[in-house]
Amino acid sequence: MSRISVIGAGYVGLTTAACMADLGNDVSVIEVDADRVRALRRHRIPFFEPGLKEVVQRNARAGRLRFTCSYHDAIPGAEFAFIAVGTPPSPNGEADLSQVEAAAAAVARNLSGPLVIVNKSTVPIGTARVVSDVVRRHNQHFCVEVVSNPEFLREGSALQDFMHPDRIVIGADSREAAERVAELYAPLQAPVVIYNVATAEMVKYASNAFLATRISFVNEIARICERVDADAKLVAEGMGLDRRIGAQFLEPGIGYGGSCFPKDVQALAAMAERYGYHPELLQAVMDINRDQHLLVVEKLVQCLGSLRGQAVGMLGLAFKPNTDDMREAPSIEIARALLARGASVRAYDPVAMERARTLLPELDYRRDAYATARGADAVLVVTEWNEFRQLDLHRLRRAMRRPVVVDGRNIYDPALMRRLGFVYRGVGRN
Ligand SMILES: NC(=O)c1ccc[n+]([C@@H]2O[C@H](COP(=O)([O-])OP(=O)(O)OC[C@H]3O[C@@H](n4cnc5c(N)ncnc54)[C@H](O)[C@@H]3O)[C@@H](O)[C@H]2O)c1
Repeated sequence: MSRISVIGAGYVGLTTAACMADLGNDVSVIEVDADRVRALRRHRIPFFEPGLKEVVQRNARAGRLRFTCSYHDAIPGAEFAFIAVGTPPSPNGEADLSQVEAAAAAVARNLSGPLVIVNKSTVPIGTARVVSDVVRRHNQHFCVEVVSNPEFLREGSALQDFMHPDRIVIGADSREAAERVAELYAPLQAPVVIYNVATAEMVKYASNAFLATRISFVNEIARICERVDADAKLVAEGMGLDRRIGAQFLEPGIGYGGSCFPKDVQALAAMAERYGYHPELLQAVMDINRDQHLLVVEKLVQCLGSLRGQAVGMLGLAFKPNTDDMREAPSIEIARALLARGASVRAYDPVAMERARTLLPELDYRRDAYATARGADAVLVVTEWNEFRQLDLHRLRRAMRRPVVVDGRNIYDPALMRRLGFVYRGVGRN
């Protein structure tokens, strides 16, 4: 059993805290947002993440998991402090480290003995050194090691990903500190790699940039497929069967979004520029992705002519299924483009509507997919929630004023949709 403080009760911090407690550790979560702490003390999870509530509840009741706003309550006596605060983009594209620095300073000011800081936030190369410097400025008494331990979990399957990781990456200057962190993960029986700090920090950026590159790659292939009458979904399937390629992250669609890929690719590119290297491939990945968001709007224009006065229904708003995260969701740009072209927009998402309302107050939020289609001139599939795959398509068709479906996620079979009387457009297939 180790005594752990986790700083930041977001997707990564709360998952880390709940899982570390579940592995038998004594965990305190430090969160600046007092409302969030109050909710968590009542076992309310401030965002949608399947299964997380049960694990939080179980461990809080067992006395292994606590929540506080106070570093003074949680840092003295802790052996490890996991930093899992946000690293949003700053205006120049690089990661804004102010939350990380504030957390490090607060840890340093409240030390009562030696401690290992474990950085889980996604950060530019060199951040461990920045954190060490901050700590040294605020504490000269105790030995503090800073270890990089990037997180690879995905929203929507965060618990599963944390408990069954493909690998644990640890970056440290001190072998002893790295091994102590590795020990925390020993019950997971996952491969552990220990690198120097810069290499570990880079593994995270490079992994996200690579996945984003796959998505932009297949979206570029999709654009070519549309012109030569090939089916990009099947092309991706055929490619993915090659074990050297694999099938994941090879779905043509409306491009990547979310709180990680857009900011991390941009941050890696901006960092490269600062070091005097122009990252041409990363730039192309971002350019393709930006255009991809609006391709579905162009397809709607092709089907409907002008969008002025047309009613468009959006199915899905979250950046991917099984989350309510709306950060950098392509739906935001798509909805704004539809509104700017004079369309009226109604929308439905199984869990993200509450968050969407603050970002997109102009939309008319409906209670399900059929209510979204009622009287619509077109329906746009934005997020591939399973419930949209199972729709009664006859009923959907009957509800609509004009039977136009632009399927930004290729969840429907084009031939079937045409048989049912829809004017149907997918991505990368005619
Ligand atoms: N969300 C993901 O899927 C994911 C996956 C892997 C890595 N990451 C990375 O992990 C980091 C955290 O991401 P997230 O999505 O969990 O963020 P988040 O925005 O959901 O949560 C961050 C939390 O930290 C709190 N916070 C900010 N400053 C604080 C401080 N000084 N002290 C205490 N609490 C503070 C915020 O109030 C917030 O609740 C980011 O660097 C992100 O890039 C995220």
